[in-house]
Amino acid sequence: MSSENKFKHHNQRGIKPHHVAIIMDGNGRWAHKKGKLRIFGHQAGVESVRRAVSFAVSYHLDALTLYAFSSENWQRPHQEVVALLELFIRALETEVKNLDKHNIRLNIIGDTSRLSTRLQACIRCAEEKTQHNKGLILNIAVNYGGRWDIIRGVRILAAQVQDGRLHPDQIEEKTLGAYLCLNKMVPVDLVIRTGGECRISNFLLWQVAYAEFWFTEILWPDFDEGVFEGAINAFLKRERRFGSMTI
Ligand code: IPE
Ligand code: IPE
Ligand code: MG
Repeated sequence: MSSENKFKHHNQRGIKPHHVAIIMDGNGRWAHKKGKLRIFGHQAGVESVRRAVSFAVSYHLDALTLYAFSSENWQRPHQEVVALLELFIRALETEVKNLDKHNIRLNIIGDTSRLSTRLQACIRCAEEKTQHNKGLILNIAVNYGGRWDIIRGVRILAAQVQDGRLHPDQIEEKTLGAYLCLNKMVPVDLVIRTGGECRISNFLLWQVAYAEFWFTEILWPDFDEGVFEGAINAFLKRERRFGSMTI
């Protein structure tokens, strides 16, 4: 290995991301700007999801994780929540064939127990149909909250401690990490957030410990392959140090 390569390996600059997570924000404002109802923006957002997935496949990402509905989004007007979840059912039903055709494995993360039985059945069906696919892993976060994720893991460990199967001293990063969402995947390398806000909004809290963040003013319905590529190019210029020294 040349010294230049050794250096590259050390700071990881120029190494392709394997796992990208996206906070798809700005649908409502996009619709508002056009004088339309918010749901119109969500509908347009489904097209952006298609573009993002297709880019992820052609770029050979290992995993793409999309934040579709947060554990806090229930606070929105009932009408919007119903319309959003209905849109999700419809998109799942129409897209699952296409996902399967492209060898994509669908994985829903979040507390699905609060979703309608129809949506739960629809999720199960889509996950089962694609479960043996070996291409892109498409994680969609629905009724997901980073705090919910961590609490769920902690509860499992607490039960093991209570049963005497685990000693508190045995709890390490990997002990808890094994019970969190996305535990079987490569770490998240890059988080993209559209819509101009620079916050995490209770998305993957634990999992993004060393991810790179890229924020854009572009609203989610305007997200396309070019924007995705721009985010990746910015990522490729980053120097990831993981706590080690600078040059
Ligand atoms: C993102 O767009 C989609 C969801 C959160 C479901 P928003 O609906 O948050 O759109 P803005 O942020 O109000 O524009
Ligand atoms: C984050 O967007 C959640 C999703 C994209 C699903 P929000 O629009 O809900 O986030 P806040 O309210 O601006 O933090
Ligand atoms: Mg928003």
